[in-house]
Amino acid sequence: MIKSDLIKNRLLVIGSNGMLGQRLVEYFSKDQKIELKCASAENESFIPGVDYTQLDIRQKNNVREIILDFFPDFVINAAAFTNVDKSESERETAWKINVTGVENIALYSWTIDAHLIHISTDYIFDGKNGPYSESDKPNPIGYYGRTKLAGENSIRTSGVRFTILRTNILYGPVRFGRPDFVKWVIDSLRSNKEIRIVTDQIGNPTFIDDIVASINKIIESKKEGIYNIAGKETLSRYDFTIRIAKYFGLDEKLIMPILTDELRQPAPRPLKSGLLTLKAETEIGFKPRPIESAFALIKKELDI
Ligand SMILES: NC(=O)c1ccc[n+]([C@@H]2O[C@H](COP(=O)([O-])OP(=O)(O)OC[C@H]3O[C@@H](n4cnc5c(N)ncnc54)[C@H](OP(=O)(O)O)[C@@H]3O)[C@@H](O)[C@H]2O)c1
Repeated sequence: MIKSDLIKNRLLVIGSNGMLGQRLVEYFSKDQKIELKCASAENESFIPGVDYTQLDIRQKNNVREIILDFFPDFVINAAAFTNVDKSESERETAWKINVTGVENIALYSWTIDAHLIHISTDYIFDGKNGPYSESDKPNPIGYYGRTKLAGENSIRTSGVRFTILRTNILYGPVRFGRPDFVKWVIDSLRSNKEIRIVTDQIGNPTFIDDIVASINKIIESKKEGIYNIAGKETLSRYDFTIRIAKYFGLDEKLIMPILTDELRQPAPRPLKSGLLTLKAETEIGFKPRPIESAFALIKKELDI
């Protein structure tokens, strides 16, 4: 065996209990070439048996301590204040997590020359002219999008080696915490609950395992910059819901089409959105899975 075969990458996953974070942990904890450390807001790791430390990314000293102690080669930041509506009324909290917290992570990743992989969103765009490429001009219409854009900018100006992955509408086999959109639709329709789904929000729903695979490719290639990582098909949230119902054999009549305005949500939503993934496909070999094959994997993994 040559010496380089023995060298492991040290990987710190922050936000490891979140929807994306827990899937990253499941994947990288089985990777022989990775030495994994996990950190998130809760007392304990949702995934048992991993090296875990409770961390609030707003606390600069705690971020410093974990990064300087573990000395990772790569830091993945999957932690965020993700409640779009609450971001309007809890602005200070949203800013402190999505901007100040990200600044803290960027600062100490830069200090030790770690490569920071950060997750961002299509909500940095106004949704007037999607799908968007990496070079389109951001123009967030809600406070969540503003904080996520400011978080991106703080990384870009920090001097750290970084890759920002922008994504939209995550779904996948989520075992812990709140269910993803697909599981919520399945649970609602199976219990005969009528659901109102918007026909005027367009995007390309992203299978979580596709992001995990792209992060693995970033670790292998050390590619830096901004990449869109999103699903193969651009469609309305209503059409996506119909596809869920058809695949899982559920009653489509319970799905009521409505317009975003009718929901009267506190935060505005980008309507004609979604992300173009050509750059990631050509530069890192990103291959988004077809929707139904992602559903098949969810069905198998969660036995639903
Ligand atoms: N979900 C989507 O559809 C979507 C779409 C586009 C982009 N994104 C981006 O993708 C990333 C992952 O999203 P997700 O859906 O996996 O989010 P999530 O399920 O809400 O997970 C975020 C995790 O971060 C933790 N966290 C929150 N505040 C923290 C703090 N101060 N310190 C440490 N940990 C903290 C959360 O803990 P608590 O749950 O205890 O607060 C949670 O475990 C985020 O950057 C998000 O902006 C998500």
